[in-house]
Amino acid sequence: NGLAQLISSGRVRNIGFLTGAGVSVAAGIPDFRSPGGMYDTLKPELLTASESERNYMRADPTAVVCREIFERNQFPYMELRRPFILAQGTGQWKPTISHMFVQLCHEKGMLTRLYTQNIDGLDYQTSVPHEFIIPVHGSLAVASCHFCEEPYPFKDFQQKLRENIKDIYKQDENAPKESTNILCLKCKKPGVKPATVLFGSSLPRAFFDHYEADMRKIDLFFIAGTSLVVGPANRLPLMVDKNCIRVLVNNEKVGDCFNFDAEDSRDLFVDGNCDNSFLELISKLGWLEDLQEHAEELAPSGSDLLKKLLQSRV
Ligand code: OAD
Repeated sequence: NGLAQLISSGRVRNIGFLTGAGVSVAAGIPDFRSPGGMYDTLKPELLTASESERNYMRADPTAVVCREIFERNQFPYMELRRPFILAQGTGQWKPTISHMFVQLCHEKGMLTRLYTQNIDGLDYQTSVPHEFIIPVHGSLAVASCHFCEEPYPFKDFQQKLRENIKDIYKQDENAPKESTNILCLKCKKPGVKPATVLFGSSLPRAFFDHYEADMRKIDLFFIAGTSLVVGPANRLPLMVDKNCIRVLVNNEKVGDCFNFDAEDSRDLFVDGNCDNSFLELISKLGWLEDLQEHAEELAPSGSDLLKKLLQSRV
């Protein structure tokens, strides 16, 4: 209630968001580190890799998306990401209530910036203008060469991926049995990949261009659906003004920068499923009608939640 009042009172004018994979779980995309998440379910033995590369991934599953392995061997990343890349542009996944809450903040003129660690493109399926979104870890929906940065037309990339990269998920019977490299159209190296950030690579320029001024400006910071273990994004909550209110919306307490227990704390932990939490906040803010206008655009889980809430009110 306090949070809704604070937003409604006009005392909060500039809202920032840092989001992670948890906000897309309700759309049907598993996160990384939860049980059943991408790292938990990683099976290095299915990937085209040397035994030493597999051992590296067994010891640290994030190695599957690290620069060191990719520069030697394009296949683990491509095989792991094959269905996600092929799903881009098909509308298979839709934004969740959490994504829509960001859009509503923008519609109300309060959004300063969304820092999303997600590469799934769902933030771009809302009407939040692109300049308000910083894709901290890049995007799956654009392809280029890791070595020389030459763009690769995305539809052609998808086609090439379909033809060249095997399907470890056993969903596509037309997929090849063995993977062959996708070569850059310019430098001819096997470096073509979606424009996502690998561990060991630099973040997009837009992050460095904006984060300092944004963190100074915002007076409310929602941190949602993230384990806050990957830098430098996980340091954003430390960079805000000392009066900025920080709200962690997550199904577990994360981050060691918060102080939820002190009586006059500016930190708030909203425990549980982030779609439920944001829907409750939307309702308390009196924004349900605004959300209803976008009901068609929501992932099925989101439109069901909204329907149930509206039915319970009549
Ligand atoms: P993680 O999988 O590390 O963390 C997701 C967090 O969201 C966990 O704390 C979950 O408990 C929580 N969570 C999951 N579902 C939720 C739900 N429905 N409601 C509320 N909370 C939920 O994902 P990220 O923090 O996004 O980077 O991971 C950060 C980065 O690590 C990713 O961008 C990716 C990965 O390696 C790169 O690949 C460079």
